[in-house]
Amino acid sequence: MKIIVTGGAGFIGSNFVHYVYRERPDWHITVLDALTYAGNKANLDGLDPSRVTLVEGNIMDADLVNNLVSENDAIVHYAAESHNDNSLDNPRPFVDTNIIGTYTILEAVRKFGKRLHHISTDEVYGDLELDDPHKFTETTAYNPSSPYSSTKAGSDLLVRAWIRSFGVKATISNCSNNYGPYQHVEKFIPRQITEVLEGRRPKLYGEGKNVRDWVHTEDHSSAVLTILEKGVEGETYLIGADGEKDNKSVVELILTTLGKEADAYDHVTDRPGHDMRYAIDSTKLRTQLGWEPKYTDFETGLKDTIEWYKQNPDWWKPQKAETEAKYKAQAQ
Ligand code: NAD
Ligand code: DAU
Repeated sequence: MKIIVTGGAGFIGSNFVHYVYRERPDWHITVLDALTYAGNKANLDGLDPSRVTLVEGNIMDADLVNNLVSENDAIVHYAAESHNDNSLDNPRPFVDTNIIGTYTILEAVRKFGKRLHHISTDEVYGDLELDDPHKFTETTAYNPSSPYSSTKAGSDLLVRAWIRSFGVKATISNCSNNYGPYQHVEKFIPRQITEVLEGRRPKLYGEGKNVRDWVHTEDHSSAVLTILEKGVEGETYLIGADGEKDNKSVVELILTTLGKEADAYDHVTDRPGHDMRYAIDSTKLRTQLGWEPKYTDFETGLKDTIEWYKQNPDWWKPQKAETEAKYKAQAQ
């Protein structure tokens, strides 16, 4: 099996590359990644170059994408602009990469008849009230809030249309919030861990009541491999591990794990249009494809993640000052 992983030098894509490298030793992986601020070659360190090839390039480059797709059996599409706050500051790269990039990939798999798995997010469904008894399912209506989530929703709808109109062999997964090693320090959990490690206080948007449904990135990878191998073409699967936590509790846990007082954080300006709650019902993936998450204890997973950031300052320090300068300019 020869696969392409777009965005394979980013946080979740690189975890998937390592996961497949371990679990499927006879597969060849081509990583297609533009190495934007979020991509990092170091995320692929330690992999045998005869089994993993990094192609530095853009998913909007149709000639490049066509060449690679023609030479491979399947493409797993992670590449995206992925951060909500950035999309509020400058939406254009989100429209380009998430919409035009996905369109370019769809046209290539249509032309060469190859299998596509498209990676998406639970944010396409909008948000839930804190006391809503329902969770998102595969049939929840799309209702995205931010430029990021609306471009991801647009990309999903393109995939659905290419499946129906052109018979493209594609599956889609919508996953909840990932955590784990190698996540860029712009994101909530690594930002707060590294703020404390640099001697500053965590920054909570608004009151911190917003709820995210945390899943370890390794569980996201095992789910995607399961869908790639066993998923029914044309279907959508939701990925989640029943990990709902409000932001205030997560910040408190980070602080106490690092030996600080639980209330040693600051409230900062809230994110405009901030989604209140996400929650995933992953029954379909579990019952139809037999997937189960391994990291069911968030506290342990978070402690391991904190330890990884403590041990790897060389990886995150180069991103930190620029990221914080950007947040400071937005009073966040
Ligand atoms: P990330 O920002 O860490 O990585 C994105 C990667 O894509 C980077 O390596 C970047 O260089 C690459 N990239 C960006 N634009 C590109 C382009 N035009 N051409 C080629 N490569 C390009 O993102 P992530 O958090 O790892 O998210 C990966 C995917 O998973 C995204 O599609 C995202 O929507 C989805 N997702 C993320 C989460 C989460 O919690 N982070 C949850 C659900 C789904
Ligand atoms: O739900 C899946 C989505 O999860 C993915 O599609 C996105 O790519 C990913 O970035 C993530 O989106 P969120 O906006 O939920 O993640 P973020 O890490 O930016 O923020 C998580 C929560 O923490 C959110 O409620 C905002 C809040 N927050 C964030 C930052 C950076 C803070 O309170 N303080 C902060 O400093």
